Amino acid sequence: MTRVCAPPVLRSRDLTSTSRHAIRYARRVSDIQVSPTLAVLNRAQDLTAKGIDVIDFGPGEPDFRTPKSIAEAGKRAIDEGQTRYTSAFGTLALREAIAERYNRRYGIHLGPKNIIAGTGGKQELFNLALALIDAGDEVIIPAPYWVSFPDQVSFAGGKPVFARVDRANEFRPKLTDIVAVASERTRGVILNSPCNPTGAVIEDGELRRIIEWCAARGAFLIFDETYEFFVYDGRHHASAMRWFAEFPETVIGVNSMSKTFAMTGWRLGYAIAHAEIVAVLGKIQSHSTTNASSISQAAAVEAFHGHDDDVQRMYEAYCERRAWLVPAINEVDGFDCPNPDGAFYIFPNVRALYGNGAVHDSQSFANFLLDEARVAVVPGAAFGADDYVRISYATSMERIREGVARIEAAVRKLR
Ligand SMILES: Cc1ncc(COP(=O)(O)O)c(C=O)c1O
Repeated sequence: MTRVCAPPVLRSRDLTSTSRHAIRYARRVSDIQVSPTLAVLNRAQDLTAKGIDVIDFGPGEPDFRTPKSIAEAGKRAIDEGQTRYTSAFGTLALREAIAERYNRRYGIHLGPKNIIAGTGGKQELFNLALALIDAGDEVIIPAPYWVSFPDQVSFAGGKPVFARVDRANEFRPKLTDIVAVASERTRGVILNSPCNPTGAVIEDGELRRIIEWCAARGAFLIFDETYEFFVYDGRHHASAMRWFAEFPETVIGVNSMSKTFAMTGWRLGYAIAHAEIVAVLGKIQSHSTTNASSISQAAAVEAFHGHDDDVQRMYEAYCERRAWLVPAINEVDGFDCPNPDGAFYIFPNVRALYGNGAVHDSQSFANFLLDEARVAVVPGAAFGADDYVRISYATSMERIREGVARIEAAVRKLR
């Protein structure tokens, strides 16, 4: 007798409403939150979808398209059949290109075994947290901080410990800030320079001192230089990788294709570390994403070969926008905005506006701006600095001018 498999019976049920039985979650997710930067983005996008003209100063991604020949290299990879799994560490061609770039810049001797490519710098940071942090370990993070650092540390079972950096020192981290919050449980430090959200660029001397301090106590230093090419006013980007050869067990670099080459959607980043650490990262990665997209890796190899002009073009646009925006926002009543060293954000203090109407903190101020001015900014609370908001200038000069005018008009109503 032939058996025929009956198709599954689909009963109509609303799968988005509250569940009938409480769903049990693992304890590790209870402490972490959806990225608040994405929450603002989502609200702004909902309004835009309804046809409302929102000026979106929320996104942490370049408004430029991926340079054409980089995109072409991705297409070529598909046509040529580079569509299979790669090594968990990334293709040899990519790791060699990254090594060569760093070796040239810092006179070091990295080889492919020091490098792992992943699905964004974010994945490598996440894997590093899993690889290096045990329950109860403390990890020092200068604050204001990029939103994902604390949650990644918590997810791995560790405890983020915040080192307040001084606004009077343009938010640039110093060894004394780190030492002030260290304990015998300190397992490592995460630095991000240029910093998202403040733009602060750490100084060479302080960076060297922090590395030495970490090395002396067997702690790691994760150095996230995702915005390395966007540094202004003749300042120079101090990279911890410069001292990698001297402190290979301590210094771990993380970088990304996202901001430098306008490749956010390609999801490609990488970590540079002692070969032993890289091997552990590979082990973790082999059980999660396996490898970064083979197509994105091929495009990244192209990016590393002669796209300095494209990066320069984007850099010049950011320079022009920043030069207009900082003085303009400082003209708005209640805004006090330092001149950021780098990245593509400004981080004004807006505390003077709190206590007016419904505005009493950075979240309510961001809501006020979205409702009143149709301008999206990210509340500073997301970065551990509730007196501030983050404004991304990764949007056109025209939108920036219009956004500032709208903010000015809305704030006038507040006073
Ligand atoms: C400071 C910092 N590090 C890392 C990342 C991760 O970038 P990606 O995962 O796109 O490589 C970001 C993205 O916003 C960032 O701002």
